[in-house]
Amino acid sequence: MKADIIIKNIDKLYTLKGPNRPRVKDEMRQVGLIEDGVVAIEDGKIIYVGQGQLPEDIKTDETTVIIDGRGKVVTPGLVDSHTHLVHGGSRENELAMKLKGVKYLDILAAGGGILSTVNATRNATFQELYDQAKKSLDRMLSYGVTTVEAKSGYGLDDFDTEIKQMEVAIKLGEDHPIDVISTFMGAHAIPSRYKDNPDLFVDVIKNEMIPEVAKRGLAKFCDVFCEKGVFTVEQTKDILETGKQWGLLPKVHADEIETLGGAELAAEIGCVSADHLIAASDKGIKMMAEKGVIGNLLPGTSFNLQSGKLANARKMIEEGVAVALSTDYNPGSCPTENMQLIMSFASIMLKMTPEEVLTAATINGAASLKLEEEIGSIEVGKKADIVVFDVPNFEYIIYHFGVNHTDKVIKDGKVVFSK
Ligand code: NIG
Ligand code: FE
Repeated sequence: MKADIIIKNIDKLYTLKGPNRPRVKDEMRQVGLIEDGVVAIEDGKIIYVGQGQLPEDIKTDETTVIIDGRGKVVTPGLVDSHTHLVHGGSRENELAMKLKGVKYLDILAAGGGILSTVNATRNATFQELYDQAKKSLDRMLSYGVTTVEAKSGYGLDDFDTEIKQMEVAIKLGEDHPIDVISTFMGAHAIPSRYKDNPDLFVDVIKNEMIPEVAKRGLAKFCDVFCEKGVFTVEQTKDILETGKQWGLLPKVHADEIETLGGAELAAEIGCVSADHLIAASDKGIKMMAEKGVIGNLLPGTSFNLQSGKLANARKMIEEGVAVALSTDYNPGSCPTENMQLIMSFASIMLKMTPEEVLTAATINGAASLKLEEEIGSIEVGKKADIVVFDVPNFEYIIYHFGVNHTDKVIKDGKVVFSK
């Protein structure tokens, strides 16, 4: 074996070694720390992980890139498993309204919010959406993110725009170092012309959009905004069950603002993840744990919406829900690409320990994209998606918040970002 890249003398190597499945309870605190660690990479894959020196059978030559990990932390590439990456425009105009106390759902009900981004996205060309989303991916990569999920949902009943969004996401996944996983979320808001009869739009999604998305291979997941004034629990169930029949794996925006029973529904229909869960009921949390639904938490949204409510991460972890963490990057409720900031929020606001945070942002994020066999930990055979941070320990990233601590990012065995 001949290594393409070696990272050696790593002060703290957090491998996340463990079973290739969502980690729960105590497992979320086992981060597989190796001091004086060494990692070898060949052909995009990890071929050795250990302590001290490399074994003799791993050869190097003048083409091998040697990275010195002295004084550094190394972790698996971060996974941002919930974003609305591809969209037109921005919504800083809502800030003044929000400061006056106007609520997120009231802005939406008045035709703003998501619906204003729908207009901007419909009016943007493929190239404009591509360029804007590429800038965001570049930022994400700089923060140590190597895999990103991207939802449609700013076209709604304009199916061409939905398709345009998913095609941009797929093309960026091919062109950009970051892997992009596409999700169909036509059910993101009720379009104006279906305001008085949302069930008709549900029918269009089920009978026209989902089959086409599936046939054209435009998405891996299907997601719905299950929320008061948006899609009901019944409508959400109907859409996600149809998606399942077409091979689209279900995810759901659940109990983000109101306690509606989204967590219970996620358990009932076997969603891969239920996301947000700020207002999830205790019963819903228990049911999710029983059914192995991942709880994908997005504390940047709580920060930005300033509702004063937070997801009960401690309860979820105690009950045995595997918790993941994501930015929710979108122009309305969380305009940031910074996963390191989200990790600080998760620890400081949701009281997750640094170890739980790291697990949530790596292997559990990978599991919420059904990629736990390939990414999410630094183990032999997995993809060489690795971040080198210029910090003395992982806790330091959480503690020294709001700035970028990335030193290098390795994606598919290549150094793609360097400070
Ligand atoms: O996850 N809740 C629905 N969707 C996004 C917000 C999208 C937007 O405001 O543009 C979310 O919060
Ligand atoms: Fe979202």
